[in-house]
Amino acid sequence: MKKLTKIFVSAAGLLLMGFALAGSNANAASRLTYGKITNYNLHSLGTIRQLTREQIAETHNLSTKQVENLMKLSLPTHLTAKNFAIDSQNFKMHLSKNSYGIKSVAIPLNKLTGVISNHYLPKKFKYGKPKSPKKVVALTFDDGPSPTLTPKLLKTLQKYHVHATFFEVGSSVSRWPSVSRQVIKDGNVIGNHSWNHPQLTTLSNSGVESQISRTDAAIYKATKTLPEYVRPPYGSINSRVGKVYDRPSVMWSVDSRDWAYLNTQKTINHVLDTTYNGSIILMHDIHPTSVAAVPTIIKTLKKRGYTFVTLPELIQKPLLCGYQYFGRNDFRND
Ligand code: NI
Repeated sequence: MKKLTKIFVSAAGLLLMGFALAGSNANAASRLTYGKITNYNLHSLGTIRQLTREQIAETHNLSTKQVENLMKLSLPTHLTAKNFAIDSQNFKMHLSKNSYGIKSVAIPLNKLTGVISNHYLPKKFKYGKPKSPKKVVALTFDDGPSPTLTPKLLKTLQKYHVHATFFEVGSSVSRWPSVSRQVIKDGNVIGNHSWNHPQLTTLSNSGVESQISRTDAAIYKATKTLPEYVRPPYGSINSRVGKVYDRPSVMWSVDSRDWAYLNTQKTINHVLDTTYNGSIILMHDIHPTSVAAVPTIIKTLKKRGYTFVTLPELIQKPLLCGYQYFGRNDFRND
């Protein structure tokens, strides 16, 4: 009798354990936190916030005011938060009540490759270090758009099948939106270079936010895309400013000094003398002498074996929020 009871008790125990296990599997998704899926990386969480803003902008017809207010939208900042689920195609974030009337945002998982740990991604979205050409370089152009020079530069880029990243100033985008539209149409990327080029570190938090969000709105109005990166004017940045705009900062490793030379041959020589593998080259598409230097720079670097790539191709990963990127294998996160 005693023995029988014991057997009965352990059978019941096993049964209970079985229920508990089934329960834990069913609830596994809801118990994931941002900490778990990012390997406890706040920079990755920041990137998820920016991807959420970009997704909202892409999938809704937002007014200028609504884009300007996107930086104020309440999005997760703690690794313990768990307002999301991952299915076979999308990362779905549930939003708290907001003025946009948006309840959830679905981000396609291919945008999260390299942001979310491989363990939580379906096989086809897992990150693997991409094979890339031996010698790479990324071209960036600041302070545009210019109504005459940017279109001229775009023709050169098209002729040589090269894409570049343009860090545009919001006040100019609002004056020449069709030029920005053409920049995107041609397959280039536009980053945020502030509204009117102040030294952001001298501004208050709300001053920085206004510089960035007004520019976001101008670029969105012109192109229906929200800029993914910021280049702070003069490279002037600190951790406070970086936190306000909540995205990657793109710096440079080769300063053409084109603005100082205002001389085509000197600009060409300086870039060709100082470019090395993995460089981010800084030029300005608002000086005729700079735009005139580009064909020779491209032709010569190609002859030297360089391939012109985009920033994520150069870095070989998505650029993460809160990092400053100077070139391949050359970035920091303070
Ligand atoms: Ni600038």
